Amino acid sequence: MATPHIAASAGDFAPAVLMPGDPKRAERMAGQILDEARLVSSVRGIMAFTGICNAGANAGKPLSVMASGMGMPSIAIYATELFKFFGVERIIRVGTAGGISPKVDIGDVVIGIGAHTDSAMNELRIPGVHFAAVADFGLAAAAWAAADGDPKVHVGTIISSDNFYSTPPGRTQLLAAHNVLGVEMEAASLYGVAAEHGKQALAVLTISDHLTNGSPEMSSEQRETIFQGALRLAIAAALS
Ligand code: HPA
Repeated sequence: MATPHIAASAGDFAPAVLMPGDPKRAERMAGQILDEARLVSSVRGIMAFTGICNAGANAGKPLSVMASGMGMPSIAIYATELFKFFGVERIIRVGTAGGISPKVDIGDVVIGIGAHTDSAMNELRIPGVHFAAVADFGLAAAAWAAADGDPKVHVGTIISSDNFYSTPPGRTQLLAAHNVLGVEMEAASLYGVAAEHGKQALAVLTISDHLTNGSPEMSSEQRETIFQGALRLAIAAALS
């Protein structure tokens, strides 16, 4: 039962899907945390794997890993098809974000319980309403419990932006003043799609660069290492 963007059959996906942006990261994650991983779709290079989670307390449960690509239209397409046609119940985005609040540092993890956005995607849902794009409370609570008081794990709002390179002057400072922890490009749309289909979603983000405190960007090797903390929380939420 292929859909326009996923060439898989019914039953090829687990109820829980971890969703990084990058297809190569999806492949590495599958190699690391799944036993008996099999590639179930690779349309447009967006690789999807299903296997049995081999990580810690969650070993033995079925789990899928699939990339989202970059940006809100991209993640909305995959999330919609997974929720609607492949029996997926929850999607946990595992990605990176640029730090905005001075409270977060590079390498910290953000559990994004709400996503502001400059995208029109959720505006189109209910005319006249500024849709509140929020994470599933149970998933967020499970990720937070798994963090076990780690001071490098933060819970708060993020902004999902359509624009990586061009930010209106002063906007980042205003967002920081409103306690927005970081910027990424997918969560608000994922949360909207999950609400539409009565499903669950969460974004667990690693701060990979910082827009206001001038910290240097990470090497790809450092990125991979610090990514492990977010991955552990995402798995705890996915299989909770
Ligand atoms: N902007 C948007 N998305 C991001 C960023 C950023 O600075 N860093 C990591 N993901």
